[in-house]
Amino acid sequence: MRRLGTVVPVELAPGVDASMVIGYETALRVLRDPGTFSKDPRRWRALAEGTVGPDSPVMPMMEYRPSCMFTEGEEHRRRRAVVEDSLSRVDPIALRGYVEDTADTLIDRFQEAGEADLLGQYAAALPLLVLTRMIGCPAAYGERLFIAMTAIFEAGSDAKRAHGEALQCLNELVAFKRANPGPDVISWMMAHPVAVTDEELVHELSVLFGAGTEPEQNLIANALRLLLSDDRFAGRLSGGSLPIDDALDEVLWKDPPMANYCVHFPVHDVVLDGVRLRKGDPVIISMAAANNDPAQSSHQIVGNRAHLAWSAGPHVCPAQGSARLIATVAIEKLLDRLPDVELAVPGAELKWRPGPFHRALAALPVHFPPVQDLKDENSVWPGEIPGDSPRSTVGPAPRSSATEVVAPSPGTPESGGWSLWNRLVGRWRSR
Ligand code: HEM
Repeated sequence: MRRLGTVVPVELAPGVDASMVIGYETALRVLRDPGTFSKDPRRWRALAEGTVGPDSPVMPMMEYRPSCMFTEGEEHRRRRAVVEDSLSRVDPIALRGYVEDTADTLIDRFQEAGEADLLGQYAAALPLLVLTRMIGCPAAYGERLFIAMTAIFEAGSDAKRAHGEALQCLNELVAFKRANPGPDVISWMMAHPVAVTDEELVHELSVLFGAGTEPEQNLIANALRLLLSDDRFAGRLSGGSLPIDDALDEVLWKDPPMANYCVHFPVHDVVLDGVRLRKGDPVIISMAAANNDPAQSSHQIVGNRAHLAWSAGPHVCPAQGSARLIATVAIEKLLDRLPDVELAVPGAELKWRPGPFHRALAALPVHFPPVQDLKDENSVWPGEIPGDSPRSTVGPAPRSSATEVVAPSPGTPESGGWSLWNRLVGRWRSR
């Protein structure tokens, strides 16, 4: 691709053509020029002309939704304020505590076995369980959303159905939170001075769940893979957070969780680095390629945060701090509890999951000296009372007297806890 230049033709799915930006400086120019490159997919020419159909597997990741991710200008600023202001109220100390609790609980479940798949049994489950606590979402909704989001990111034949299931679940969640507000992100979004409708909330939450689970699990898993497979980290793993910080920087530069995304649509015909782009034809940024552009002036990775893993410009990820904290604590905890953990297969034999957008491992098998479990096997999730209302982000959630909408219990009577974890792992393994 490099031989072709900095903007190259790609096919994202059968019949879905796009131009992919692989140069670092060019990517920054696109991301920082919303006047020329819009995030609004209603400008997508092939979709309007019918040459790309609504059933294409990439549609759930690329089609318009009334959310901050797919809007521009004043509308984007308004929507983004709701998300950004509410996320900024999350207490990092409380968040660290959720990650530690969740990590401990997950590790308790496999520490005696002496082996685990750190993807299915740890990295895939942890972000969702943390996110549901962070934003005030009952675990039962979280489970349904996790299953749907996994299929959406893979952009396979199930993506369309999964998208419908995610929207249905989010509608139910919004109705539940309207009736049962608490001191949590969803309730803060509902009470924000920019009054958002329920429909808007559903779509903002769909972005939060998509962004907050799949890329997060990939950051954790890709960093663990690096730490466990690269000789540069050998012998440094129990030495505090420095190697973890280094590994996260390296993954964010070299193996960013969203490898290719940030789809933009030119608002008029434009020539970019000698390539003519037509109005409304998708331009996708390869964060993986741009970060590793040999023409880049700096090749210093450690401590350098100028990578594009969080994107750049007006749509840059508003949750970078929380996302990095979650990954750091999750990895710290694992290495602290299982200091002799080792990959069970050579690093080069690990398999990657399909999909045009993400950089995602299929499994991360490890072994370690078994650790005897001294905890009560039948304990419920820390702090979680089966069937109870969701826990808050900053303290106990007040129970509303308006209880027409009650927490759901799909499949089993419990709303969360171990059962959620068991089902997640079971489903992940049966994929
Ligand atoms: C390792 C984890 C994460 C990575 C790599 C990541 C990366 C990104 C990237 C590349 C974008 C730009 C997407 C685009 O323009 O199309 C983005 C946007 C966004 N991210 Fe993150 N993200 C992560 C975690 C999170 C978390 C935990 C949340 C919230 C809980 C979150 C919320 C958002 C939102 C709301 C946007 C849309 C912002 C806008 O369009 O104005 N992200 N993220």
